[in-house]
Order: sequence, then structure tokens, then C-alpha cells
Amino acid sequence: MQKISKKSMDLVTENVAKLKELFPEINCEGKIDLEKLKIILGDEIEENDEKYNFTWNGKKKALRYAQVPSKGTLRPCKEESVDWDNTKNLYIEGDNLEVLKLLQKSYFGKVKMIYIDPPYNTGNDFVYNDDYKDNIKNYLDKTNQIDGNGKKYGTNSEASGRYHTDWLNMMYPRLRLAKNLLRDDGVIFISIDDNEGANLKKICDEVYGEENFIAQVIWERAYSPVNLKKHFSENHDYMICYAKHIDNLICNGLKRSNEANSRYQNPDDDSRGTWMSSDLSVGPVIEEKVYEILTPSGRKVLPPNGYCWRYTKEKLDVMIKDNRIWFGETGNNVPRIKRFLSEVKDSVTPMTIWKYSEVGHSQDAKQKLKELFDNKAVFDYPKSVLLIKRIMELYTDKDKKDIVVDFFAGVSTTAHAVMQLNAEDSGNRKLIMVQLPEPTDEKSEAFKSGYKNICEIGKERIRRAGKKIKDENQENIDKLDIGFKVFKLDSSNIKEWNPDYNKLDIALADILDNFVDGRTEEDVLYEIIVKYGLDLTLPVETCFISEKKIFNIDRGALIACLDKQITIDVIEEIIKIKDKLKPEETRVVFKDIGFKKDDIKINAIHLLKKNNIKEIMSI
Ligand SMILES: C[S@@+](CC[C@H](N)C(=O)[O-])C[C@H]1O[C@@H](n2cnc3c(N)ncnc32)[C@H](O)[C@@H]1O
Repeated sequence: MQKISKKSMDLVTENVAKLKELFPEINCEGKIDLEKLKIILGDEIEENDEKYNFTWNGKKKALRYAQVPSKGTLRPCKEESVDWDNTKNLYIEGDNLEVLKLLQKSYFGKVKMIYIDPPYNTGNDFVYNDDYKDNIKNYLDKTNQIDGNGKKYGTNSEASGRYHTDWLNMMYPRLRLAKNLLRDDGVIFISIDDNEGANLKKICDEVYGEENFIAQVIWERAYSPVNLKKHFSENHDYMICYAKHIDNLICNGLKRSNEANSRYQNPDDDSRGTWMSSDLSVGPVIEEKVYEILTPSGRKVLPPNGYCWRYTKEKLDVMIKDNRIWFGETGNNVPRIKRFLSEVKDSVTPMTIWKYSEVGHSQDAKQKLKELFDNKAVFDYPKSVLLIKRIMELYTDKDKKDIVVDFFAGVSTTAHAVMQLNAEDSGNRKLIMVQLPEPTDEKSEAFKSGYKNICEIGKERIRRAGKKIKDENQENIDKLDIGFKVFKLDSSNIKEWNPDYNKLDIALADILDNFVDGRTEEDVLYEIIVKYGLDLTLPVETCFISEKKIFNIDRGALIACLDKQITIDVIEEIIKIKDKLKPEETRVVFKDIGFKKDDIKINAIHLLKKNNIKEIMSI
């Protein structure tokens, strides 16, 4: 029986395996022969010391750390979840670096869109400092989960002198891990302002590839100037957007607005419906397309200097016959082309400046959030729901169960936007929110209203927004998923065995039960699901045989019994489940010390193998 690894996906091993698959000759007794790899890559290797490069103090360490698997786990929290049994949405509380590592296996290449709104590093927001030695302990400590004494979060003030460095070290590993989650036709949008905009662009060019840059959108987030500002009163943020692979990403365009449609009219009562005219002349000049056109009023018209007509004389004659050229009400104007509304695409290509009149502004977002929370200003700078809804309209598909991830979720504006858009177009997009339980300031309205950390606001936002959307939309709403499963980052459920050699008898007894005190079978079950790389929203059914609980995950794909005294009737039930549900493959997991006697264990393995269950693991 093989043991399940306690760690999350090992990215270095994956990378090495990929390289060896491509170039088997670089395999040197299990390691990589770098010199051989250099020869294979020939002139493509840049060996110049003065190469084009963007670097800072700690970059290599941050990259290395991004590859170190997480030792943590995600513990289910049904009490705080909504519609646990049916929902496909996830709300994960924790430091996003550890959570991104834990999600690698389950969601590798599965996410259609990531939207993040990280701290802008203004000096007033806090930048999370990772502790590479023991980041889980660091996290539990920082979020008051160890002794409740509460370490104050540090803000990254400019005075620290390492202002950009800390921010870059925080962002870089997270962006790398995020990229792994994206599908081949996936896309990431990142909100930012001028404090770190230039740095963000540089690291994204490196991580996602310059060739995958899509756009830097400007969001007009404020509508009036702040007159106290010395030079300019900035009224915009950016959203930079990268594709995983630009060739695979399709933009849906924006829906034509009523205002755009109203520009189409029908002054000549054309039976093909409303139309709008456009210029018939184009540049540069192509000689054969420069000729005189005779208007119905008898006037001869030439294209302007430096221009020619868009069509050849023959093609234009056909178009005139088909009443597709407009000479004005009196038949005396310079000719123009009639473009019929029924013949243009029903979407508009987005431009890069997004006005508040179309996607809302900050004040508006804050006000709407306040209204949702009984007129309490629980969060200062939420993004606008319309803004995030628009990026999903552009790049997600309502029917494909696209997963949208936000790992700096704040007060869950992204979740609100996903539910809102699904309600509007009967879509089935799914969401994964990740947010640190950052304590709220004791003087804040949020704290006074009972929200001790931002996750509490974020979860309540989804509950309230979901209900509001259901109340406001009566049609096609039955299928709308407004639920979410809550998981919380924690240390592994499996004990580390660091025996005290002076008390070996106690240590040995301790390891006999290898689960950490206070952890439930469900906690362990989800650790198995995460480490196996299964979707956290897969259905889990349970049954009891001789009072021993059997978990059946994803209709027989994984069956687990974590009891301490497994008997043969448990094994027989597992085989029955497999035979009834007929999954492509069944994997079985037991507790390490689940068999009291060796002969039962040998018998069990034999029986399972005989019934075609080959993967039998222990935890
Ligand atoms: C600018 S806010 C996001 C606001 C969000 N777009 C909204 O509309 O509600 C950034 C959030 O990231 C969270 N955050 C910062 N570091 C984090 C980390 N390491 N893991 C998870 N969340 C983090 C902060 O607590 C903060 O709430």
C-alpha cells in the first residue's frame, strides 16, 4: 500500500519530467545535464552578462519558494457554507500563496479567467510578508489563529526603503502559480495603479510572455477632482490583461448598446431595415480605384486627394444597383456606403478606456455595498460589479461552466459579478474566491458591525448579494448557484513525526494515531481530495458498514474509509459500490493504521486487487 504524499503538487518534479520527455538525452542518472541542454538549445541561449533583465532583491528566492510544495491543507467548514451539497462555488480562507499551491493539482489548466485586485502598495495597504521557513505557521500566527494575541499587520510604508522589493516578492510567486491554473484559452486581468503599474507590467511580461499581452485598460474610477492634490487628481486605475496563449483566446466583444443601435436609421425606407452610412474613400491610393462617380443629380465626384474609392468601378456599379450606396436625400452628396444593422456583427470590439458611465465608479461601488450591508460602510475600496461583469462578458462562456478565480477577493465583488451575470444570461460560470482573514480595524464600521475580519464580510456579501439577485430576477433563476463551500487553510491533518527520543514510548503511541487531535474524518477526506488533485466540489456520499463510515467521492472514483479497525465487510461494501457505479477507475484510501491485524490487511489488498482495484493508498 503506497502512502499519499503530505505535500501539494511538486512543481519542480513536474518541470523536470516535462524537460526529460522533450529531451531524453539530458537525463543524467536522474538529474539534468545542463551542459547537454545548452548544446541542444544552441544559439538560443543568452549567455551575455548584460542581458535584458528585470530583477530585484529576493527574486530568485521567491521563484524557488513558489516551487516548494505546501504542507498545509484545506479544512471544510460546512457551518459557514451555503447549499454545501449542491454548490459548485468555493470560498477559501487563507494566504493565497499557500492556497494557490494547494489548488495546483485540482485546478491545473482548468480556470478560464482570473481577476485579481492586489494591494496597490500605496503605503497604506498592507503587503503580506511570506515566511519561507514555515509559511503555514506564519499565516496562522498573523491571522491570530495560534494564540489569539493578534500580530498587527505591517503596512509597506515607503520609508522602509524596500517598498517595491517587498511588493514584487509578494506578487511574483503568486503570479507564477496562478498561470498554471489557467486553461490554454484562459485570461488574467489585474487591477493596479501607478504605484506598481510599471513593475507589474514587467513581471507579467516575464511570467505570461510579452506576446500574450492583450491590453492595459483604463478604468475611470472617479468622477470629480480632489482639489487638495498638488499636481493631478488621478481619476483612473488600470487593468492589465494577459492571455495564457494569445492564439487560443477569443474575445466575445461587447453587446451592442441601445444607444449604438439607435445610430442606425432608415431615411430611404429600405426593406432591409435600418442602416448607418460610412466613408467610401480610403487611403493610400490604388490607381485603378480612382475614377469619377456620377451622382443621381448629375454631379461628377472624385475621391479626395491622396485617397481612392474602396471598390473597383465594376463592384461599385453592382452596389449602386443593389441600393447599397447613399447619395443623400437629394441625390447630390458625395457617395457613402450603407451598412445595415442586420448585417453587422451583434457585438462591438471593446476600446481600452472604460468610462464610469458604462462600468460604474468607486464611490458608486462603495455606496452599493453599503446599501447591501444595512447602510454600514464595511469596506472602503470595493471594485465595481459592472467592471468585473464586463471582463467576464468579454472572455467567458455562459454555457461552459467556466471557472472564475479571484485570489485577492476582498469583499467578494467578483463573486457578486459572477452571480449577477449568470442571472442575466442563465449562465453556469463557477467561482473560486481566496481571501486572507485580515482582521478589521477595531475603529472601523465593519468591526463595530460584528465583522472581525474581511472574510466574514466577503462571505456575508455573497449570501446577501445572492439573495438580492434571486429576489430581483424572477425568470430562469431556479438553476442559479448562489451557494458556496467554505474551506479554511490550516496545517496538515497528519502529524509530523518528530519524536522526543527520551520519551520514545509516548512518541510511538502517539504516531499510532497519525491524525492531529481535533481533526475530523471530513478534514482528512478533503486533504486526500486536495492531494489527489480532485475537484473540491465533487459529490461526496457516505454510508456506514458495521458503524464504519465509507466515503464515496465522485460516484466511485475514490472511496475512502478512515476507520481504525477496518473489517472485511468494509472491503466487500467498497467492491459493491464500485460494481454498482462502474467508474472508469476506482482508487481506495485507508488510514495508515486502519488494519488491526496484518492478515486482514493482506486479505483486503488481495480482495481489492482481484476486483480490479489497483490503486490502494494509505494516509
Ligand atoms: C484591494 S483588496 C481587493 C478588493 C476586491 N477587489 C473587492 O472589490 O472587494 C485586496 C485584498 O487582498 C487581500 N490580501 C492581501 N494579501 C493577501 C494574501 N496573501 N492572501 C489572500 N488575500 C490577501 C487583502 O486582505 C485585501 O482585502
